[in-house]
Amino acid sequence: MATASSPYPGECAPLRDQGTLTDADQVARFASAVANNTTRVLDIDAVYESEYLKGARVLITGANRGVGLDLAKEAASKGAVVIGACRSSSKELDECASQVITGVDVTSVDDCMRMAEKLSGEAPVDILINNAGYFPDVADDFTSGPAYEEAIKQYDICALGPLRVSHALVSKGCIKSPGGKIIMITSQGGSVTWRQVQNANEGTDYGHHMGKAAANMCGALMAEELRGKGIAVANLHPGFNRTDMTRKYEHIWDIEGAVEASVGAKRVWHEVGRVTLTQAGCPFVNCEDGLEIPN
Ligand SMILES: NC(=O)c1ccc[n+]([C@@H]2O[C@H](COP(=O)([O-])OP(=O)(O)OC[C@H]3O[C@@H](n4cnc5c(N)ncnc54)[C@H](OP(=O)(O)O)[C@@H]3O)[C@@H](O)[C@H]2O)c1
Repeated sequence: MATASSPYPGECAPLRDQGTLTDADQVARFASAVANNTTRVLDIDAVYESEYLKGARVLITGANRGVGLDLAKEAASKGAVVIGACRSSSKELDECASQVITGVDVTSVDDCMRMAEKLSGEAPVDILINNAGYFPDVADDFTSGPAYEEAIKQYDICALGPLRVSHALVSKGCIKSPGGKIIMITSQGGSVTWRQVQNANEGTDYGHHMGKAAANMCGALMAEELRGKGIAVANLHPGFNRTDMTRKYEHIWDIEGAVEASVGAKRVWHEVGRVTLTQAGCPFVNCEDGLEIPN
């Protein structure tokens, strides 16, 4: 077991007080927010703090569409210098980003290194958002059989992808140190504890949930390794957003409180602003309500 000393001794406090866990039952969670008129869930604009984005350099992977695109648009609208990384760009990303780096497949070490080399002569990035992800619409259970090929792809993109991107950027000095942040956009699907509620009496989605659990572990390990460099790493669930990825769940968007990605992006940036080095690591935050999800 590693016992390396940190220049930030004692820096491992929990992000939230105990008793502030969010509810695993998403239908009940949203119904409760509506019944109690919970501002944080229903009206992010009322609590949104985004001042820190002004002038910040932010790099977002998978920035061409979905949550990543709205994270880019929102940050740009608040005065951030947005670097959008993607496999292929989109008109909307081209219009909002200060810089777009195409040809970045997060499953490729070479692509990630090429991106880091491109950025290495520039001012370091304040915030890296590891957003790129993959969740195909395939049966993945004991009835149809586990979707092994897709599972490997999900693990590669969602768990190893952020490690490739983060390692490439940190190794080339592209993340501000000390003072930078690395944000892992994972998923509530990665909570092992919550499977007994969200997958009660059924398995399913082995590839997605195992890949996101591994992504959470990646974030927890990077938080420890990079703490000494003054880089804070955090795992965030972006909430339920109406994107291409979740179109297969369109029938439950309303009952589970899925929001447009423009709203989801504000929720994420609000939580990114709250991440500190002290709070980096294990705590896993639900951007829908700002509460903690158990690992
Ligand atoms: N939407 C939700 O409700 C929700 C909930 C929980 C977690 N999340 C997480 O939030 C993130 C964004 O989700 P989303 O809903 O915006 O998904 P999405 O609409 O499917 O977009 C996925 C993004 O990831 C990129 N991507 C996929 N594979 C890639 C690869 N190998 N290399 C580089 N980029 C790749 C896609 O680029 P291409 O256009 O090139 O395919 C696209 O930009 C994901 O990590 C997802 O798991 C979303």
